[in-house]
Amino acid sequence: MTAFIPYGRQLIQDDDIEAVLETLRSDFITQGPRVAEFEEALSSYCEAKYAVVFNSGTSALHAAYFAAGLRAGDEFITSPITFSATATAGILTGARAVFAPVEPDTGNLDVSQLSNLIAPRTKLIVPVHFAGHPVNVEALFAVIKGGSIVIVEDACHALGTLYKDRIDGNWQKVGALKHSHMCAFSFHPVKAITTGEGGAVTTNDVSYYKKLKLFGNHGITKLSDNFINPERAPWYYEMQTIGLNYRMTDIQAALGISQLRKLDVFIERRRSIANTYNNAFAANRYFYLPPERDYAKSSYHLYHIRLKDEYFQRKLDIFNKLRALGLGVQCHYIPVYRHPYYSALQYKSIESAEDFYSREISIPIFPAMSDADVQFVIEKVFETFEGI
Ligand SMILES: Cc1ncc(COP(=O)(O)O)c(C=O)c1O
Repeated sequence: MTAFIPYGRQLIQDDDIEAVLETLRSDFITQGPRVAEFEEALSSYCEAKYAVVFNSGTSALHAAYFAAGLRAGDEFITSPITFSATATAGILTGARAVFAPVEPDTGNLDVSQLSNLIAPRTKLIVPVHFAGHPVNVEALFAVIKGGSIVIVEDACHALGTLYKDRIDGNWQKVGALKHSHMCAFSFHPVKAITTGEGGAVTTNDVSYYKKLKLFGNHGITKLSDNFINPERAPWYYEMQTIGLNYRMTDIQAALGISQLRKLDVFIERRRSIANTYNNAFAANRYFYLPPERDYAKSSYHLYHIRLKDEYFQRKLDIFNKLRALGLGVQCHYIPVYRHPYYSALQYKSIESAEDFYSREISIPIFPAMSDADVQFVIEKVFETFEGI
């Protein structure tokens, strides 16, 4: 059988399976003690006050946007180099997405070009930590400082990513929210850890925390101390805001708790694979390597190469050849405004995003890759470029 190595996949081990089985044998399979325990473990890992889990990264983003107060008539600024959900979760609140230029090498939202996009209607800015490399949130925070704009980090790629605080020189976890208000994560199987489907939001603000909790559970509370109506019948519960069933189950949370214990080991493996690629490809003349800024320690959710000028017009051939040789390469991302839903809304293309899109290919990186898999990828990448 020909080997085929996907660009990313989960690593599920016996202890993960045991954790899920134990929950399946327990009294709780929807929300129970494991959800609370996972929220506690996540907030503690991220060094944030609160974490609220959801049934996907998309619902986590939707809840964060709702909690931030994003509504019809507002605008939010985000990157076009992202999965469509980053923008669509905001559109669902009735607000309008505004796409920003991106940096040519990291693919991250270009903070230096934000000021002319910020308008009186701007309610929210959503930096996406593309591929696990952090946006310079400290610089972003300086742009909005003093104003009422809320920053929600889309850290769906970036659980376990670190960045260096320029003031105190300390490494900060993405999710600790020193320079933002909320941070959303995804636990889809290609992500740093998985719960099957799943997501979370961290925040240090109790009022956001309460809104996140309500929104993910139909806007309903059962806590009588919080009731607005005077009714106190034993069956009584109260829907206080708009909301939906965005709940994670205890089955998923049990898997998440088990996976989270191994997150640092997973990231170490990703960084070691990235380092092997960086060394192997250092002198290549075909493509640029993913940069790592001096303020960043990427979690390498993706390892993206960017084709040099002589090659990017042959991206399709290169991509097809890599696939034919057994590499499950992918392209991250089609700029969101290119999708028919968005182009029908008259979005214009953005040069920096088009340039990034025309060059980018993600090659396999995930913790379950063996050293032989990594060598196989290197060999097939060279075989592809040498043959075109
Ligand atoms: C940057 C980004 N944002 C949001 C999402 C949505 O997360 P989920 O698939 O868990 O709903 C993803 C998932 O692919 C993502 O990569």
